[in-house]
Order: sequence, then structure tokens, then C-alpha cells
Amino acid sequence: MSCWHYYAPNPAENPAGDPCFTVDAASITFGRGALRESGAALRLLGCRRVALITDSAVSRTEWFTAVPESLQRAGVDAALYTEVRIEPDEASFQHAAQFFREGRFDGVISVGGGSVMDTAKAAALLGQYPGELRRFLGPPLGQGEPVAAPLIPHIACPTTCGTGSECTGIAVCALPDRRTKAGVAHRLLRPTRALVDPVVTTTLPAAVVAASGFDVLCHALESYTARPHTRRPPPASPELRPLSQGANPYSDIGCREALRLCGRYLLRALAADDTEAREQLLFAAMLAGIAFGNAGVHAPHGMAYAVAGGAPEVRIAGYPAARPLLPHGVSVILSAPAAFQFTAAACPERHLEAAGLLGAELRGATAADAGEILGQHLLRLMAAGQQPQDLAAVGFRAADLPQLVAAARLQRRLLDNAPRPIDDQALAGLFGAALHYSPAGQQEAPPPVNPRA
Ligand SMILES: [Fe+2]
Repeated sequence: MSCWHYYAPNPAENPAGDPCFTVDAASITFGRGALRESGAALRLLGCRRVALITDSAVSRTEWFTAVPESLQRAGVDAALYTEVRIEPDEASFQHAAQFFREGRFDGVISVGGGSVMDTAKAAALLGQYPGELRRFLGPPLGQGEPVAAPLIPHIACPTTCGTGSECTGIAVCALPDRRTKAGVAHRLLRPTRALVDPVVTTTLPAAVVAASGFDVLCHALESYTARPHTRRPPPASPELRPLSQGANPYSDIGCREALRLCGRYLLRALAADDTEAREQLLFAAMLAGIAFGNAGVHAPHGMAYAVAGGAPEVRIAGYPAARPLLPHGVSVILSAPAAFQFTAAACPERHLEAAGLLGAELRGATAADAGEILGQHLLRLMAAGQQPQDLAAVGFRAADLPQLVAAARLQRRLLDNAPRPIDDQALAGLFGAALHYSPAGQQEAPPPVNPRA
């Protein structure tokens, strides 16, 4: 049901569309025991003294010891850094970069969720190029300064089923003064290698699996429905082709499979003893990470950065956090139903196909139904996954809408990757819709968790 003509040039619309797309595939080892290969992998890259970046919770898990033991066996000296801030900001990035400079490392290994891996990327970047982070952010938040030369080798080991950061050249942090988040995006930030070991999923709380799983789902959905690369102006020179280059035939492959796996396993993976589902969701996260690292996400993530930056102090039930915070995946899924109902008009076949892959009933559906079907199915999944149901549920009020629009409009890199133009008026409509998806008590009953295969 995919739009076969999705990548066909459309001279009437954009005679200067980019006919090329670039594939930056990560080098990955996936499977049980992968963490035990970390020492050998670093030695293969020529590393002898590395920064081992993690967070205190991960460092206390039973399986974490596999990493320092592997490094020791391989003769790789490591200095441990556990002061990563969950949902990092510029100050926490700079703190890690200082550790990095003082250590004079020749490599870095990150073991953790997106916050840890992004901190490692930023530490390597700012360790090599000291100064303000913002000069690397795209306009209007920064100057868009490119990374001038390759960074030292980085092996990334994800410990949640979500961010896909091990496969991307993106490092996201909070900008409290702008009440938003932003990502440094450059191919040279992508980890040199990823070690993806399902053993890490055994200790994840259900709330973390849910939040990161909905992030995976949105990575795949947004990359699959992004503006096609053929509808984006070509770069002035090849190295300036953006990471958010738009949907392309390569990223489509990972998106479809990641969506299928999310439809089948996301809700099942909330059960701590369902190791099959958690392993499959981790694989989906990796596929979606490869996809969005080569296509880019769009409106839900752009809106989510504003939501996260302006969120009232909130705690998500069961989510382990030292301070009130809105987990990234939760901030993304809250915006998604409204965003996809809006973008469906641009490529309804893709929205319908995605809904079907996620398990929605498509009998009798037409293109005109695509946005409604996908949006309603996402709301049912959110309810079944015990997620907050709308922005009001995490403390936002109508009076917050202007601030949300002001913060989201700064996310041009993401908004311009949507299949429809998104201006302030559209943003106001989307945030307004996301504030209350349905009157209290009117939400459809969630579907039962998929029975185990
Ligand atoms: Fe994300």
C-alpha cells in the first residue's frame, strides 16, 4: 500500500529536489553477550585508555560488570564517569567534556540510555573542540558550525529499548533559557560501533520500557512519513547533505520492520519476564535508530522538545528519576496522535500502511481515513501502555499554548522534515488538539496486550 511514486521527482512542485540520498550505516554487533566483546572491539580500534561513561543506576546492575571485565581482559585502561544527567543540559555536557579533556583518552565507551550515549558524543566533541555547544546547533538556536574532523572512536552500548542513539549522529540536550531541547546533528558524531546486548533489558522497569518503546514507535513512524528526500533542495556540496535528509528507500526498510515489531511486541515487553518481547523491541529500536539517523524525525519530536522544555514538574508513575521529569518518549507520544492526523493528508497511504503494521484494523479504510485511524490507534496503544493521555494529563493548560508554539517554532530542522508545511498557526492547532484528545472517561477501552506468540 506504500506510495510507489513517493520518490518520483515532482518538477512542478520542486524542480531542484535532491535526487540523491546518503546511507550512513552504523557498525553494529547485536545479541546476547555483545557487552563481553567491548574490550576486543576497543582494541581493534586502537584504543588503550578510554572514558567509560554511564550513569550510577546502570553502573550498579549485575550485568554491567561484563564491560570493565572485558576491557581488563583486553588490556584497555578505563576511567569511569557516572555523573551523567538524565535528560542532559549544556552544563552536564560541559562537565563530561571537562572529564574528557583531563583524562587524555584515545577512545570512549558509553553504556546507558540516550542521555548517556548523547553525553558521550558531546564529551568527545567538546573535549576535542572546547567552547560553547550552541555553535554546533542549527539556526535559529546556534550557528550550525560543522564538525571539522573525525572524533576519537566511540563504542555505544544502549541499555534501554528506545533512543537508537547508538546508530545516530545526534546528541540532544535541554536549553532551559529557551524552554526547549535541541540536538547537535552531524555524521561525525555517530558512534564508531554499537554493541547491543539484550541482557540489559532484564532490569528495566516497565515504565522505562513503555516510554522508550513509544519513542521507538515514533522514530519509525516519523521517518517513514517524513518529506521524501526528492522534495528537499539539494545541498550546496555533498558533505552538507543534512542528516534529516527525508524519507528514502533505505530508511523505509528499517521503518516497516520496526513498526511491525512495535505492533507485535511493545505492549508485551512491559512484562519484565517476557524476554522475547524485550529483545525484539531492542532490535526494533536499533532498526528505527538506523532509519531516523538516515531520514530524520519531524513534527512529534519537534513538538516534544517544546513539551519537555516547558513541562510543569511532573513524575511518571514507576519511572525511576531523582527529580521530576517528563521522559523523552512520553513527551513525543503525547504529540503524535495530533501530528499524524495532520500530516496524513500529505501521504495517506503511508500513514495507513503504518497503522496496519502497528496492528490497526484497516478493513474498508480509505485514504481520507488515514489520519483518524492512525491517531486513534496510537491513543489506544497509549492507554494500553498506561501512558498519560494528553498534554493536560501532564499539567499543561490552554494558557501554555503560546509558549509551546514559540518553543516549537525553533525546531526548524525537524519541522521542515515533515511532509506538510508547519507554520505557527498549524503548531497552535496541533498543540491545541494534543491538550485534550478526548473527554475524560470517553477514551475507548484499550485492546488486550497481544497474546504471546
Ligand atoms: Fe526520540
